Amino acid sequence: MTQTRGRWPANPVLYEIYPRSFRDTTGSGEGDLAGVLQGLDHVASLGVDGIWLAPFYESPMVDGGYDITDHCAVDPRFGTLDDFDAIVERAHTLDLAVCIDLVFNHTSDRHPWFRKSIAGEDGYEDWYVWHDPKPDGSPPNNWISFFGEPAWTWNPVRRQYYLRQFLSCQPSLDLRHPAVQDAHEKIVQFWRDRGVDGFRFDAVTSYLFDNSMGDNPPASETVQARNATDESNPYSYQDHLNDMLPGDGAAFAERLRDWAGPDAWLIGEINSGNRSVELAAEFTAPDRLDAGYTVDLMVNEVTPHKVADLVARKEEHGCGLAFVLSCHDQPRGVSRAGDGSPRDAKLLALLSVALPGPLIVWQGEELGQKQANLPFEAIHDPFDRLFWPVHPGRDGARVPFPWQAREPGHGFTDGTPWLPMEGLAEVALDQQDADGPLAFWREALALRRKLDPQSEVEADGDLLHIRRGAHRIALNLGQDALPCDYGDPQLATAPLQEGTLPARTGVVWRD
Ligand code: GLC
Repeated sequence: MTQTRGRWPANPVLYEIYPRSFRDTTGSGEGDLAGVLQGLDHVASLGVDGIWLAPFYESPMVDGGYDITDHCAVDPRFGTLDDFDAIVERAHTLDLAVCIDLVFNHTSDRHPWFRKSIAGEDGYEDWYVWHDPKPDGSPPNNWISFFGEPAWTWNPVRRQYYLRQFLSCQPSLDLRHPAVQDAHEKIVQFWRDRGVDGFRFDAVTSYLFDNSMGDNPPASETVQARNATDESNPYSYQDHLNDMLPGDGAAFAERLRDWAGPDAWLIGEINSGNRSVELAAEFTAPDRLDAGYTVDLMVNEVTPHKVADLVARKEEHGCGLAFVLSCHDQPRGVSRAGDGSPRDAKLLALLSVALPGPLIVWQGEELGQKQANLPFEAIHDPFDRLFWPVHPGRDGARVPFPWQAREPGHGFTDGTPWLPMEGLAEVALDQQDADGPLAFWREALALRRKLDPQSEVEADGDLLHIRRGAHRIALNLGQDALPCDYGDPQLATAPLQEGTLPARTGVVWRD
């Protein structure tokens, strides 16, 4: 669970790269794999252990590439397989391991597998989750997709519904089907043979469901409060008892481990807010995944109590919980859990490195890049469009990486960026100074390597105390200075005043 694997140390730090938003080498306005290659030196300079590369596969890009038509081909907008091979080679030279995204829960509706399944072509009939309507023509049950729509879409050719836990153009595969499993095993092998060191399994908690297809009961108040989505999404109104890994569904992870081999580092996206840590524990039992990440710190307010509670649940269940404050699916942490200032960016950086377990750093987090407030017309993401203006938006977190202050393309592109890049000049890479978030992240990640794996985490009002062996870390997440005798600090996120820990400040000292 917390062991080293291949090139990976135990509890690695991964830097998430969203290729479409990282660096554009063609002037198309969208990032590409050659741009990822160019940016690897910057990533390595941070002191992380590896990259998580979001999808670059052949895709109509309705859901940002999570709607795949060929899992073993690079979409021409991103480049070629040779570009991918060059990334792996350069990453390894820089001592970075490479983890890629595998989307096994569903495909694009334009995938040849789905076309063949609709046509009932020999062998493919049951690759997806087809179901007859009820006698009155309505869907088989009350399941709701993550994106708030009914989880079933009608297909007139088959006169049946198909399950789609995300968009209607993302039909869910039947993961219990032996031929589907064989196909997935081949995909894992294909990328392992190209030198990939690890995988992130997208939506792994949606792989299996109760075959009796019973209705989900309404969520109790407690369940609703802990669901992965908020009340603006009807998905949160259900207790996902039947559509999410009933029984020992997490045992499926043993197959994933078998396919990838003992040297691969594996992480799953745990989408159930309701049983997040418990599910992460089931997924990271021996011979399964190394880690799971949840939305706990990405959708809730980040308070000392919440952090301490999450760490306590992680320890109680002995699981490989990875910590993530920001990713391509949630509003940027510095704007959500902070006020968007460089000061809060540094505070959250210290919090991130102080937590025990694997860590994911979302591209731009090291710059203090803020959540963008995009106008409706600029938004591509169908989820954002469905929930506009209530949800702060996924595209707002996916605004391209500002390499330079120079407008309009900020060194990301010579063309027109696919999402507007306003207001990024001051956080651009070439504007970072010795006191800024970038320098602090480097120091904090270097410190993280020295921390003892054992941790004690305690909340005391607005203060969070984290003990890691000889290192003591205190974070004041509140708005008032608090008495705190820190002695001679080893590292601090802001200037200190004697005897107090200023508001929104973190400090590290050694015994
Ligand atoms: C995961 C991805 C998200 C995508 C969804 C459907 O949650 O992280 O971006 O929309 O799966 O594939």
